[in-house]
Amino acid sequence: MRFSRYREIIPEFSVFCRSLYASLPTHLRVNTLKASTTEIRLRLERRGLALAPTDQTGLVLLVASLPQPGTLLEYALGLFHPQALSSVVTALAMAPTPDHLVLDLCASPGSKTSLLAQLMKNRGVVVANDSSSTRVATLTANLKRLGVTNTVVTCYSGQQFPLHGRFHRVLVDVPCSAEGTLRTGVHGTLPATIRPRPGLVVLQRALLLRAFDLLEPGGMLVYSTCTYDPQENEGAIQFLLEERPGRVKPIDLDFPHSPGLTRWQETMYDPSIQHCWRIYPHQLDTVGFFLARVARDL
Ligand SMILES: C[S@@+](CC[C@H](N)C(=O)[O-])C[C@H]1O[C@@H](n2cnc3c(N)ncnc32)[C@H](O)[C@@H]1O
Repeated sequence: MRFSRYREIIPEFSVFCRSLYASLPTHLRVNTLKASTTEIRLRLERRGLALAPTDQTGLVLLVASLPQPGTLLEYALGLFHPQALSSVVTALAMAPTPDHLVLDLCASPGSKTSLLAQLMKNRGVVVANDSSSTRVATLTANLKRLGVTNTVVTCYSGQQFPLHGRFHRVLVDVPCSAEGTLRTGVHGTLPATIRPRPGLVVLQRALLLRAFDLLEPGGMLVYSTCTYDPQENEGAIQFLLEERPGRVKPIDLDFPHSPGLTRWQETMYDPSIQHCWRIYPHQLDTVGFFLARVARDL
């Protein structure tokens, strides 16, 4: 089985494995830059959609059976954005405020960028960067559709993002092996492999270092992946702590999760790494995720 190497680290491993047979739920994040949650919810319910709120923020609606949310008029109007609950949690962990200068280093297609702008009430400034010019076009289109006006888009290799200024918050949502997106659906089987991407771990660490270097003293970054692989997760944070004076901070949100690992196979990690979050689909029914909050001291 593809995930058997994680048997020792994923709690209730057999329950985790069973959870992969269910389809990924569709979550819609309401866009309060355009209308209130109640208005958007009523519009969608008038279309006959069965919706359930899924979190205490009131920002995410779980919709039963909506294979193509992008075909709805409300999507084109920018009233909602289809977004995994774990992706929403990641943006919330950034805790941006309307006076912040925020960098999203790997931003396309802009799900988290647009939620950051929403949390900032379209104030402050967000710099949304992605190294892929084609993906930057998608990012720009999404920001426009969602009515985001506090964001500028750049197209640098994140690990070489210019060091001209410093940010209160940096999100580094790195390219990863994406194991957390793997589900069989009710009838299918797990894809046997995700194409190996040589150099991925090296790239993730370079992006994380640059993200830290772009922080104001007293600033905070969030590092995230949608994978379970400790090398791409705790291993990256351990690397950062060895290279820079960062401190791993608790994530003060209330969603089911497991703590970061302090050991994987023969490797020990700094005890503070247990403040990181591992989001598993049998604990929170969404894409599997890892997130870490790291502060730069004053
Ligand atoms: C996990 S996706 C980001 C998802 C996005 N944060 C969101 O929530 O919509 C990773 C992104 O990193 C970008 N990327 C890959 N290598 C990069 C690099 N060296 N510098 C900046 N971005 C990079 C990819 O083009 C991709 O869009």
